[in-house]
Amino acid sequence: MRLIKTITLVGSFLLALSCNNSTESENENYSEINSIISKMSIEEKVGQMTQINLDVISKGEIFNLQTPHQLDSLKLDSAINHYFVGSILNVGGHTYTREHWEDIITEIQTKATTQGNKIPVIYGIDAIHGVNYTVDATLFPQQIAQAATWNPELIKMGAAVSAYECRASGIPWNFSPVLDLGRQPLWSRFFETYGEDVYLAKQMTKATINGYQGETNGDKEKVASCMKHFLGYSTPLSGKDRTPVWVHDRQLKEYYIPTFETAINENALTVMINSGELNGIPVHANPEILTTLLRDELGFKGLAVTDWEDIIKLYRDHKVARNMREAVKLAIDAGIDMSMTPNDYSFNRALIDLVKSGEIKESRLDESCRRILWVKQQLGLLKNPIPDFDYYTEFGSEKHKNIALETASESITLLKNKDNILPLKKESNILVCGPAANSLNIQNGAWTHTWQGIDSTYNTKGALTFYESIKQLSTGKVDYSLGSNLNQLQNIAETVAKAKRSDIVVICLGELPSTEIPGNINDLTLPKAQQELIKAISKTGKPIVFALSFNRPRVINEVEPLASAIFHCYLSGDYGGMAFAKNLFGDVNPSGKLPFTYPKHTGSFIPYDHKYTEILDINFGKEGFDPQWEFGFGLSYSNFTYSNLNVGKTKYSSNDTISVSIEITNSSSLNGKEVIQVFVSDTVASITPSVKRLRAFKKVLIEANSSQTVEFNIPISELAFVNLNNKWVVEPGCFVIKIGDLEKAIVVE
Ligand code: BGC
Repeated sequence: MRLIKTITLVGSFLLALSCNNSTESENENYSEINSIISKMSIEEKVGQMTQINLDVISKGEIFNLQTPHQLDSLKLDSAINHYFVGSILNVGGHTYTREHWEDIITEIQTKATTQGNKIPVIYGIDAIHGVNYTVDATLFPQQIAQAATWNPELIKMGAAVSAYECRASGIPWNFSPVLDLGRQPLWSRFFETYGEDVYLAKQMTKATINGYQGETNGDKEKVASCMKHFLGYSTPLSGKDRTPVWVHDRQLKEYYIPTFETAINENALTVMINSGELNGIPVHANPEILTTLLRDELGFKGLAVTDWEDIIKLYRDHKVARNMREAVKLAIDAGIDMSMTPNDYSFNRALIDLVKSGEIKESRLDESCRRILWVKQQLGLLKNPIPDFDYYTEFGSEKHKNIALETASESITLLKNKDNILPLKKESNILVCGPAANSLNIQNGAWTHTWQGIDSTYNTKGALTFYESIKQLSTGKVDYSLGSNLNQLQNIAETVAKAKRSDIVVICLGELPSTEIPGNINDLTLPKAQQELIKAISKTGKPIVFALSFNRPRVINEVEPLASAIFHCYLSGDYGGMAFAKNLFGDVNPSGKLPFTYPKHTGSFIPYDHKYTEILDINFGKEGFDPQWEFGFGLSYSNFTYSNLNVGKTKYSSNDTISVSIEITNSSSLNGKEVIQVFVSDTVASITPSVKRLRAFKKVLIEANSSQTVEFNIPISELAFVNLNNKWVVEPGCFVIKIGDLEKAIVVE
């Protein structure tokens, strides 16, 4: 029986190979995988498709583990020898030392490769801004801040560091990057995105996937990336996490699919599915998205893992199935390969039963096992399941920290600098206050040492807060006072008294670190207590600088006029304090630019690429698009002026490339980096056009008192939109190319 099955399998596999024109080494790869599959029972195949949480094999209760953490050998035995689990994820509550990771991974892999079906486990973790569950790892700014650098090369270097340090912790699979667009500012995971624009997010996607994976091929410094959360997770109508999203197919294609498509073209090895529902259907139960779109149209051949408990949620929360059995059938039929179960084995029991009763074919399990084993093979796990932990001597090195510092430094965005009050003289007497002034937790945000990032017990020793960093660089007197925690005034009289004795006050405003459902909020306005702190300080007449450390853009329009200068620091990580201080004192010339539109009003979230009707002042003088700051905005201490915009010729055919050039002059005495952003407006189209779209950008260093010409080659195909028939098209007509205040029209024939 098993022999017949093997012959059929190998036969269909060879057929697949001959159709695919695969290379010899690919053939060898697949023959290793098929040989493993041919020896697996139904139970083993289902096990391969199962991912459990570390808690399940640890001493203590799930979510209430014994401390210090210890694996439970009996539970591990059951996971490997009874359930044959293919994957384990997460951390038991909080960050571990590298030594502890080494113990965990070694024990798991030793058992998995000597017992059970002898297949190594693939361990996965959310190392989303550095390896945030390993003590002393290099912590980077969160994704939204990475996008604010507008520097894909730097982001690629950072991703390579994270991959290396992940492997140094024995973990080869990173649940990152988030490729959902940040177009709903209320959403609790806004900071995990690359912002609102498709083009910018695509460039960051490409850089990150390359940094994580390189060529992979068993490279012990690289990890499998996991593009998440496919598809349409980030724009809940209510703004609340995991609540319904309605996005038209055309908009999905034009805005929400391209980042994933980019990642697939860069060979992203894995994908995680959106926990929520899209257009009325939970994505975990939607074959059109998980098979037709993901596999057939986008050509993804890696492994698709569910998000946390999402098969259970199909019956428990979404109510599209009556029980677990029906839920498993829906998800498997839709196209998932691995279930992040993660706290029980109900998935296994149901799937084994479905296969044994003939409702799901065993060949369907083979399909998923083939993808899972392929990823394990690409990572070199089949040959080297236990890493050589001594190899990773660069873990947490100065070199790595400097890349994180540079990333944070280039992300920090100067939004206001009235009368050029900044850069600040180092001898100034400064009061630093506010909830984010002396808090590594607020500076880092969620997914830092713990899931929600609130517990300060595990903060990186020696990492500096905003206050500590300012104190370190200053030559004057630097004082600290809280003034207000996140929601309540604290020692306000003392804070005001200290403000009176200082030359300038830096108020560090913040938001409670949080993500997913715990991060849901009802109001985007900056909490009242922080506004009161600002008003009280402002009465002293001392100039005020804001440093903003938010999970999402909190509305500050009422207090904005009280500040002379404003920096957006995003969630800048362990080196964000020093990066901010360097920007403040001018050791670094600010070069970050907003990767989203910063709203001015809590009821008006209009992105930069809105429609003409959203301008709304055409007839009635009403405010429509009226943000606090526009997408792409950010000041410098240098003065940049743009001139000589050249667009080559005026008429182009549809397969041409537009040659754009522009001259930028830095008329100041400071070297500075500037991001040249090329926007294009389609003046008339069959689907209402956006007022403008970002179509290219470059970040360049322009030396003091000098000029530079920057060139872009933009294929006409980049100007396409998705038409009524759901096809990408460039319709003939007039397009206006805009850089800074300059613009020139071209005609596409
Ligand atoms: C999140 C994912 C994450 C997973 C594993 C889920 O709750 O939505 O982004 O990768 O947990 O921690």
